[in-house]
Amino acid sequence: MVRAPCLLLLLPLLRFSAATLEPCEVDDENFRCVCNFTGPQPDWSSAFQCMTAVEVEIRGGGRNLEQFLKGASADPKQYADIVKALRLQRLTVGAVQVPAPLLVALLRALGYSRLKELTLEDLEVTGTMQPPPLEATGPPLSSLRLRNVSWATGGAWLAELQQWLKPGLKILSIAQAHSLAFSCAQLHSFSALHTLDLSDNPGLGERGLIAALCPHKFPALRDLALRNAGMQTPNGVCAAMAAAGVQPHSLDLSHNSLSAAAPGAPRCDWPSALSSLNLSFAGLEQVPKGLPGKLSVLDLSCNRLNKAPRADELPVVSNLILDRNPYLDPEASKQQDQNSGVVAACAHSALTVGISGTLALLRGAGDFA
Ligand SMILES: *[C@@H]1O[C@H](CO)[C@@H](O)[C@H](O)[C@H]1NC(C)=O
Ligand SMILES: *[C@@H]1O[C@H](CO)[C@@H](O)[C@H](O)[C@H]1NC(C)=O
Ligand SMILES: *[C@@H]1O[C@H](CO)[C@@H](O)[C@H](O)[C@H]1NC(C)=O
Repeated sequence: MVRAPCLLLLLPLLRFSAATLEPCEVDDENFRCVCNFTGPQPDWSSAFQCMTAVEVEIRGGGRNLEQFLKGASADPKQYADIVKALRLQRLTVGAVQVPAPLLVALLRALGYSRLKELTLEDLEVTGTMQPPPLEATGPPLSSLRLRNVSWATGGAWLAELQQWLKPGLKILSIAQAHSLAFSCAQLHSFSALHTLDLSDNPGLGERGLIAALCPHKFPALRDLALRNAGMQTPNGVCAAMAAAGVQPHSLDLSHNSLSAAAPGAPRCDWPSALSSLNLSFAGLEQVPKGLPGKLSVLDLSCNRLNKAPRADELPVVSNLILDRNPYLDPEASKQQDQNSGVVAACAHSALTVGISGTLALLRGAGDFA
C-alpha cells in the first residue's frame, strides 16, 4: 500500500531523465532498443541499456569508430558467456565509418550470439578484412541486408565478408552498392541462399548483373529481385541468368525502364522453374517479346499499354495483372504522362486493391504449401 504512492512520486523524475536525451531508448518490453549517437559528444555507454533487447538499432552520425579499435584485438572467448546470454536476434548498424578489423572483431564476438538478421546502412568500411583463423566463425545469420555500404577492397568485399559468416545465409540484399563486380573465384557457394535482392542499384544494368551473379554460387536461389536496377529488356536479364546458371522461381523486374526487346537480340531460354514475373512500373507500351511460354503470375500493371494485349502476345498465365494501364484506366495515363521514363506513381484504384488483396492471399497460401 505504501509502495505505490512512492512510485508515483518518482514518475516526474523518470520523465525528466527521458527529456535529457539519452542516446539509447528501449521499449517497455525490453524488445527493441534504438540508439542515435548523432548528437555532439555521445555517451556510448548508454548502449548498455540494449543488452537485453532482441532488436537493436544503432546509428552513429557518420562517426569514425577507430577509437574502439584498441579493444578489438581482445580474444572474444573472454566474453563468450555474456554474448551467449544475449537475446539479440536483429541488429542494425548505420551511419558510421568502421575500420575492417573492428568489423571483424564484431563478427567474431557475434559468432557466440543468436543473431539472425544483420543490417548495415550508410557505412564506410576502411582497410581490409583478414581471413579468419580456422576455428573462428561469425554469426549464424539467416539474413544480411546492406544499403549504401562502401568497402576499401572493391569487388573482393563479399568474399571477405562471407568468410566471417557461418554458412546458412538465406536472404542477401544489397542496395545502393558501390561495387557489385564480385571476385567470383574467391567466393564460396551460398548453398542455402533463396533470396537475392539487388534492387535499388540503378547503375547495375544487365552487364553488371552478369558480373554480380557469380556462376554456380547461388544454387538454391528462388527469388531474384532487380527492382530499379537499370535493367533494359527481360531478354537481357534472361541471358544473364542463363550465364550464371541461376533458376529462380520468381523474378521482379518492376521499376525498371524496360523496352520490349533489343533489336536482333537472340532468343533466350528462361529458367524452367520461373513461375512469377513482375514487369510492373516498367514504362512498357507493349508486351515484351520472348517472355516465358507459361507462368502462374505475370504482373504488367502500371505500364503504358494502350490496348488490351492479344492472347498470342502473352504467355499462358493463370494470374495476369493488367490494372492501371491507359487502355483500362484513362486516369492512369494522365498520371503517367507527367512522369517521363519509368512510371513513378500508380495510385491505388479499387481494382488494384481488389487484385492485390487476392494476390496477397494467394502468396500467403503459397508460403504454406
Ligand atoms: C538522430 O538525432 C539527430 C539529432 O541529434 C536527429 O537529427 C536525427 O533525426 C536522429 N535520427 C534518427 C534516425 O532518429
Ligand atoms: C551513403 O553513406 C555515406 C557514408 O558512408 C553518406 O555520407 C552518404 O550520405 C550516404 N548516401 C546516401 C544516398 O544516403
Ligand atoms: C510487382 O512489383 C510492384 C512494385 O514493386 C509491387 O507493388 C507488386 O505487388 C508486385 N506484384 C506482385 C505480383 O508481386
